[in-house]
Amino acid sequence: MSNSLQLDAQGRLRHLLSIDGLPRDLLVQILDRAADFSRATAGADKKLPNLRGRTVVNLFFEPSTRTRSTFEVAAKRLSADVINLQVSASSTTKGETLLDTLKTMEAMQADLFVVRHDASGAAHFFAEHAAPGVAILNAGDGRHAHPTQGLLDLYTIRAHQGDPATLSVALVGDVLHSRVARSDIHGLRILGCTDIRVIAPPTLIPAGIEQMGARVFHAMEPGLEGVDVVMLLRLQKERMLGAFLPSAAEFHRDFGLTRARFARLKPDAVVMHPGPINRGVEIAGDLAYGERSLILEQVANGILVRMAVMDLILGSDACALSGVP
Ligand code: NCD
Repeated sequence: MSNSLQLDAQGRLRHLLSIDGLPRDLLVQILDRAADFSRATAGADKKLPNLRGRTVVNLFFEPSTRTRSTFEVAAKRLSADVINLQVSASSTTKGETLLDTLKTMEAMQADLFVVRHDASGAAHFFAEHAAPGVAILNAGDGRHAHPTQGLLDLYTIRAHQGDPATLSVALVGDVLHSRVARSDIHGLRILGCTDIRVIAPPTLIPAGIEQMGARVFHAMEPGLEGVDVVMLLRLQKERMLGAFLPSAAEFHRDFGLTRARFARLKPDAVVMHPGPINRGVEIAGDLAYGERSLILEQVANGILVRMAVMDLILGSDACALSGVP
């Protein structure tokens, strides 16, 4: 469903709604372009002209720290103008519909909307109704997808551990509510990863996860055996309506990354987390920024992949690589 909307007739990216179904070549092109931007922004002057004159609107209907601010930094590094719409302070609280909000911002000649919403499918809705030439990037829709987080995770994994096709990756924790886990699994599969594990209590494993290509474990020790990457997921208490867990303390005892479990990982295994972290729940506080943690690097890499996606969609080919050595 996503691809008919997100790719044009020539297979070029028009919107980014989901990693699911993206052609492998396009995914690799985004990651390679992100690596180009890493080189091009390594100096003191980080500004490139690629999106000069373009307007990017951050439209966040859910809270966000790193996704919203790294989209803003990415757009500014490409010389776009950026509007951050505080949705709680906007007219949606007065009853304006999603469509009215979109059309109002389009009237200001916005070129690209970055949309986060708690309803799965919200970004698709925007893409279906956007004016021709206006792009929609999904920054997280409900439990469904968070494609740029998936891309930054893939970028980080490739940079540190090499080709995902040769790796074992474990996603630990609240897989049920995690749009990040879904995007990561789709991306890893497209890049040929065959050993993807999810580790969680049965109440936090969504139906159908095996069909996506993941193996399910209900205990840490067997699940973490021999893995190259441990991706911890936040317990999403705001999405838990029922009793999914006895308590956060019990979750930490059974599924938290403790010192003892960390010591048993492969010596070169890396620890990742999309943030925000519940310290002492998914991960012992002192491990969060330890030497094998890539958590802050994930944040930095978020800027690069978001630059790459915006540039692929909006940058003219003539200047797409200007400033990139
Ligand atoms: C994630 C999200 O919002 O889906 N965070 C993020 O974008 N960095 C995961 C989460 O909220 O736990």
